Amino acid sequence: MGCCDDKKKRPENADEVRRLVSEGYARVARDSDSSCCGGGAATAEDVSRLIGYSDEELAELPEGANLGLGCGNPTAIDSLAPGETVIDLGAGAGIDAFLAAKQVGARGRVIGIDMTDDMLERARANALAVGAENVEFRKGLIEELPVDDDCADVIISNCVINLSPEKPKVFAEAFRVLRPGGRLMVSDVVLERPLPEAVLQSVDAYVGCVGGASLRADYLAAIENAGFTDVRVLTESSFGDKVCASDSPLQDAIKEFGANIEEVREFLPHVSSLGIVAIKPAD
Ligand SMILES: C[S@@+](CC[C@H](N)C(=O)[O-])C[C@H]1O[C@@H](n2cnc3c(N)ncnc32)[C@H](O)[C@@H]1O
Repeated sequence: MGCCDDKKKRPENADEVRRLVSEGYARVARDSDSSCCGGGAATAEDVSRLIGYSDEELAELPEGANLGLGCGNPTAIDSLAPGETVIDLGAGAGIDAFLAAKQVGARGRVIGIDMTDDMLERARANALAVGAENVEFRKGLIEELPVDDDCADVIISNCVINLSPEKPKVFAEAFRVLRPGGRLMVSDVVLERPLPEAVLQSVDAYVGCVGGASLRADYLAAIENAGFTDVRVLTESSFGDKVCASDSPLQDAIKEFGANIEEVREFLPHVSSLGIVAIKPAD
């Protein structure tokens, strides 16, 4: 696969973690056959069907917008209305931004944020190829959104916040940029039990959306602590089922950090993908 072959131990420093994550996804963006989150030999379309995209949705996407990197379908967790402004945290090559753009229509707009230049390049080329005028892609960190206060109706995100070394900051930023009454609609990976130590140390496991994941209760509490109310899990499925213990991203933990393959296999069913909604209270 070649998307996550840095054998370094996971660093403590948040900027260094982001640099390694960005390097991993730059490689994915340059090699369109790679699939990091959810890994394995399946095609991007196979992965996407498994995690909740319909054939119709997949057919309407610009070619190359779907890299098979998600863990759910955030625009299907709840509805988007025509005219709404949507921000996609960690937009990648644009899959969910394009689906959201269709739902909000010409009066609405979608802003995809990503820190990785190669991803932004792909996403912008995809927008240009299909003449999508209500979608733009901005460079930035999800911990420091390049967006004004109170400007969005909806924040979506797909398999990205688990990659942040500063998750409370991400939810605080989501809260800041949503208008009062605005909604969070997020697909993400959470853990039902703590990670085995060797998986925790592996950069590949982190970049592959397992090593950085929080325990379910901690993740939901972080959303509430940012000020959101009505935090609800509307969809859930096993993410671990889609990750093979003998494939990247967990190979590194097994080979380099001595994880026991049986222990990793036993652990994978305890990795879940959730579809979460929450509300920024109206003033
Ligand atoms: C697993 S991919 C998901 C991409 C897209 N949401 C999808 O479902 O195809 C993670 C994306 O988030 C971006 N990303 C990760 N951490 C980020 C951060 N802290 N700030 C901005 N972008 C980030 C990566 O560059 C990458 O494009």
